[in-house]
Amino acid sequence: MTAPTPRPYIRFRLNDREVRRDTVAASDTLLDFLRLDQRLTGSKEGCAEGDCGACTVLVGRLVAGALVYEPVNACIRFLASLDGCHVVTIEHLRGPDGGLHPVQQAMVDHHGSQCGFCTPGIVMALYALWMRVPQPTRREVEVALQGNLCRCTGYRPILDAAMSIKAAGEDILAAERAAVTAQLMAWRDGARVAVARDGSRAILPGDVDDLAAVLEAEPEARVIAGATDVGLWVTKHLRALPVAVFVGHLEGLKEIAESDDAIRLGAGVTYAEAEGAMGAAFPHLGPFFERIAGWQVRSMGTIGGNIANGSPIGDMPPVLIALGATITLRKGATRRELALEEFFVDYGKQDRAPGEFVEAITVPKPGGLNAAYKVSKRRDEDISTVAAGIHLRVTEGRIVAARIAYGGMAAVPQRARAAEAALVGQPLGEAAFEAAAGALAGEFTPLSDMRASAAYRMRVAQNLLRRFWIEEGAGGEVAA
Ligand SMILES: Cc1cc2nc3c(=O)[nH]c(=O)nc-3n(C[C@H](O)[C@H](O)[C@H](O)COP(=O)(O)OP(=O)(O)OC[C@H]3O[C@@H](n4cnc5c(N)ncnc54)[C@H](O)[C@@H]3O)c2cc1C
Ligand code: FES
Ligand code: FES
Repeated sequence: MTAPTPRPYIRFRLNDREVRRDTVAASDTLLDFLRLDQRLTGSKEGCAEGDCGACTVLVGRLVAGALVYEPVNACIRFLASLDGCHVVTIEHLRGPDGGLHPVQQAMVDHHGSQCGFCTPGIVMALYALWMRVPQPTRREVEVALQGNLCRCTGYRPILDAAMSIKAAGEDILAAERAAVTAQLMAWRDGARVAVARDGSRAILPGDVDDLAAVLEAEPEARVIAGATDVGLWVTKHLRALPVAVFVGHLEGLKEIAESDDAIRLGAGVTYAEAEGAMGAAFPHLGPFFERIAGWQVRSMGTIGGNIANGSPIGDMPPVLIALGATITLRKGATRRELALEEFFVDYGKQDRAPGEFVEAITVPKPGGLNAAYKVSKRRDEDISTVAAGIHLRVTEGRIVAARIAYGGMAAVPQRARAAEAALVGQPLGEAAFEAAAGALAGEFTPLSDMRASAAYRMRVAQNLLRRFWIEEGAGGEVAA
């Protein structure tokens, strides 16, 4: 049977109109398209790396048939990935009478803008929050703005504005919701999409089986999920993307299945999609998700991407390794299961064959005592200096099992096997954790870099074990 001909164009809704493009390079960004092609210059370019939020736009997509809008960074979002979506820019925002939207009006009333460069991005992030939570708490506003940098106004007036947004008349996206949902639904054809420009090709598989087929045929293709890593290769390192396979739209990679024993996450599940289920199943992970990037990046970046990139400072691998997670790798119709720690072979080297992709992550629910720690220079929107996941099982006051993993301490996310051995069999007490902290020094040789010295990293890693004892062991409930 011959494969059907791919659809040779992408189509999406931009504000109130349809856009179709057949000449699109894999590396074309949404922000360049908006500003240079469409002359929609309300979205700004500040950092071009997902950090400042000046380029924030909303992307609406169908999730189980319902239209969901999320804030994203247009600077690192690739245009091809928007097929079948609704892109909403600041130019679309207005009040029911054509004047200022209540979010914009609140920013004016509370003097939330000075130079104005950050303002469109802040308004879009607040608009996304207001659509979900019309009367947010101050903490909810702070979390929603983690990915938005304001250099001159300061955050107090912006927070005041956010807290005072009024509902007024029918909101523009609420008014359009039924029509947009119908349009996006009608566009769902399940087809593979293939577009190209200047020798750079973008492929959007029709489903997960099609993804497997595409990668078997083109094993050198770059998989792109949320593009929160790959986007920077293009905008910061000016790397070319000769052929890219986009997977962020594949519902088959977005399934979250929970049983009594485990949670299985499709590799394409984003942080924002994972945090509800993961936070409920693993209460220690709830606050941890808020420490990862900002809302825009959490709306795009995937757990699978955080693993597949092989970074020694990715935040999810240490905490997932500590919980005993496994990953499912797939090549064609063949799947294999791997303990997550075994996936990381060496710096820049993972146990993944050409044409193979990460399909899912299975996280057991091991019970016991668990913690996830992240130490970074800034509390919000920062990469870890050291991250740690710790799991302990205690029976009758004695430690019977331990899994500890660190990020930022070696060339790969790594288990602390000597520290684990120092704990197992010992009475749950300070002495055991002191012994484990001592054992760390023998098994890790961290690097010094711009984030921290080797000595600092080691001290932090050891102190996290002491913290675990104080917070979870001595003071916490001792679970069997
Ligand atoms: C501003 C900013 C802040 C950030 N903050 C944090 C942070 O606090 N903590 C943190 O850990 N990370 C952080 N990151 C990094 C990034 O967000 C994460 O690593 C993210 O999880 C990557 O996922 P993605 O879907 O965007 O990956 P992509 O960029 O799409 O891909 C990353 C790599 O994984 C590969 N890949 C993706 N999916 C698959 C798959 N299913 N199978 C095989 N290969 C695949 C790609 O080919 C590529 O090599 C930040 C990034 C930015 C821009
Ligand atoms: S320009 Fe800074 S996040 Fe996009
Ligand atoms: S108003 Fe100038 S950066 Fe925020």
